[in-house]
Amino acid sequence: MGISIKNTGKAVPKLVVKNDDLNRFVETDNDWIVARTGITERRIATSESGLDLAVSAAKLALDGENYDDIGLVIVATVTPDKLVPSMGALVKRELGLANAVAFDISTACSGFIYGIWIAEALIKNGMVDKVNGVSTNTINKALIIGVERLSRIVDWTDRSTCILFGDGAGAALLENNPQEKGILSSFVKNYDDTTNSLTCGMEFSKTPFTDDSLDNPEKQSLSMHGSQVFKFAVNAIGEVMEKSLELAGLTADDIAYYVPHQANLRIILSAAKKFKQPIEKFQISLNETGNVSAASVPMALYDIIDTGKIKKGDKIMLMGFGGGLSAGAVIFEM
Ligand code: UT7
Repeated sequence: MGISIKNTGKAVPKLVVKNDDLNRFVETDNDWIVARTGITERRIATSESGLDLAVSAAKLALDGENYDDIGLVIVATVTPDKLVPSMGALVKRELGLANAVAFDISTACSGFIYGIWIAEALIKNGMVDKVNGVSTNTINKALIIGVERLSRIVDWTDRSTCILFGDGAGAALLENNPQEKGILSSFVKNYDDTTNSLTCGMEFSKTPFTDDSLDNPEKQSLSMHGSQVFKFAVNAIGEVMEKSLELAGLTADDIAYYVPHQANLRIILSAAKKFKQPIEKFQISLNETGNVSAASVPMALYDIIDTGKIKKGDKIMLMGFGGGLSAGAVIFEM
């Protein structure tokens, strides 16, 4: 049985915000941002909801498909439009995916990798090919979406974080197809964030029953200790790359292209160096997108497929790392 990535999609908001535009809010400059991160611009949602972006990306991934064949929708996000209903439920309703089970997952920048890992397990166990518990043999596809409007949780007065992030969505259609090799390995891992290096609190209702100290204890915007997360990222990306290669029985040279989370060019360069791979094998989209958390990997996957350079049979590795702390990698054959 092969679980292949059959198609992908991507959607970005219209507004392009260049590094120099950020000088209006914080003391920074283009040279610093480019040198320390590789980012030159990002997209920021002004009129687009997360659902708009998710649905646009999903429609591209579902081009030419019978929507009734979709049995699963997983949306990876830390910035859902609302807590209830889930983004998955909203996408299912908006697209009319009658047979899909839909839900969200929250594992920050590794979210898309975790989504594939879950979908692979559910498909392999025959859980997707069912309506009301009865097997159909036709519902054999899963839609995995990463979508973020990080601009809503960024602290626009904090120059160490607000310059990094952007908004967007990416989607991938997985298919259970015995003719394809598809996913060769998937591996995820959680690491305890003992120093709270990457956090974002949220607002809760005050209740007449709880102690005040329990209410809103955390900053309600994204807070990151950059250098700590950088060190974690460099180590974690190495670990998940190694483990996924080992599980697939491959070496780094067997991988045609790498599609890493788009957090910082220096993290990607360090992975290339560690595995003695040319940087040309790594998809770099962050210059135009910034870090879009769970949407970064599927957006970058769409970008590399869109170049037309991937050939049938090429082995591709997807790598994610981020809040939680969390990390993971997936190797699949095109
Ligand atoms: O997606 C989840 C995973 N996230 C990541 O992987 C992000 C990992 N971390 C990073 O990518 C990097 O740590 C950053 C890009 C966030 C920061 O780069 P850095 O090389 O670690 O810089 P730093 O935080 O150590 O700051 C160096 C200097 C500081 O000045 P002093 O104290 O040395 O005088 C900062 O105040 O750069 C200063 N600085 C800035 N200067 C101009 C920080 N932000 C800015 C800025 N513009 N926007």
